[in-house]
Amino acid sequence: TDDEPQIRSHDTLEALRAASRHLVEGLETVVFPTETVYGLGALALDATASAKIFSTKGRPPDNPLIVHVSSEKMLLSLLPPDYTLSDSYRILIQHFWPGPLTLLFPRDPIKIPDIITANQPTVAVRMPSHPVARALIAISNTPLAAPSANTSGKPSPTRAEHVLHDLDGKVGLVLDGGSCDVGLESTVVDGLHEDGNIRVLRPGGVAVEDIERILQQNISQRSLPKVLVHRRDFLDKEMERVPTTPGMKYRHYSPSVPVKLLRTISKPPPGAVSTTSSSLLDSLKNSSPSCAPLKIGLLSLSDSSIISDLVSDTEIQWHQYALGSLAEPAVIAQRLFDGLLTLEKEGVDVILVEEVSEDREGLAIMNRVKKAADEECWISTPMYV
Ligand code: TXA
Ligand code: MG
Repeated sequence: TDDEPQIRSHDTLEALRAASRHLVEGLETVVFPTETVYGLGALALDATASAKIFSTKGRPPDNPLIVHVSSEKMLLSLLPPDYTLSDSYRILIQHFWPGPLTLLFPRDPIKIPDIITANQPTVAVRMPSHPVARALIAISNTPLAAPSANTSGKPSPTRAEHVLHDLDGKVGLVLDGGSCDVGLESTVVDGLHEDGNIRVLRPGGVAVEDIERILQQNISQRSLPKVLVHRRDFLDKEMERVPTTPGMKYRHYSPSVPVKLLRTISKPPPGAVSTTSSSLLDSLKNSSPSCAPLKIGLLSLSDSSIISDLVSDTEIQWHQYALGSLAEPAVIAQRLFDGLLTLEKEGVDVILVEEVSEDREGLAIMNRVKKAADEECWISTPMYV
């Protein structure tokens, strides 16, 4: 059944039981792998345990946490007794759970501590598909709150090594499940508005195109909800210019070195000046205080139009991390955070990231890259000059 862990190895089961005791009896945090990124988990229904998540990450208290469940029964046990799932939610759950989709539900204040929802009237819930995550929740037999297991503001960890490096000494127990398959966080969706439309608050592991397609295939044209993407199609009115997802107002995903987004696809907006690869490199060299050769990290695409231009500058010490090809955005998504963290660890002075188109996984990739970057540079390619 849903609640049955799919773990067959004896050692893994023992590690899960130890981790579960740590959570349930110790009220401590545990880092565990999910299909998106590693999570820093604690008992969601216990305010003391959940508070440790905020202190470990240095997370602002007004940024609510996602609650992770291992079964639909566990989801329903969290919700107000009179609540029934909408048709859209039933369809989304059926198609995308378990998986990288987070849904907002009305919060039952008797069951969900204030600290989890940062006093919002809603609670965010997801059912991860990673077998270790699901089994840990099922064995603990209670939902786990889990943000990404990184210091607030840093790129999210997609390998256990990232966690050990970033939160060293701050977490008691890390379950190592290898590299995360998706590599970017879940898509956060709000379907609770009166108009019935689906608002995507944070793009993520489930593509907006797939949400639209599944709803279209399962709901009649007459009652088909629109899928609105935050900042592209709507801004939350009640909250004025404050982002709908509290987490979006914070600086995010930034390694400790500056990141520049190289715009090679989109045209510069009015007022922005485009530059050539060589003048970009000149300005980076000029702004460097040291006389040692500049070390530049490059998150490079195999089908890039500018890499060969850039790396032909031999005064620079290049550190390349291959993100893959534009034809496979899911691979780019899987490698993005690892690339930022790997280049940071190699001690580069600056990291350059190339733009991808905002289709499918590209929407979430560009959302993370724009937040990580302190500057966007429009590179003129022969097409535009
Ligand atoms: O893939 C994921 O979602 C990962 C893994 C570990 O499950 N978790 C994750 O959690 O990314 P975190 O805390 O890094 O991001 C949660 C996002 C934040 O932007 C937060 O503001 C938003 O979800 N969120 C949580 N509860 C919310 C609520 N009630 N209303 C609006 N946004 C909410
Ligand atoms: Mg996070």
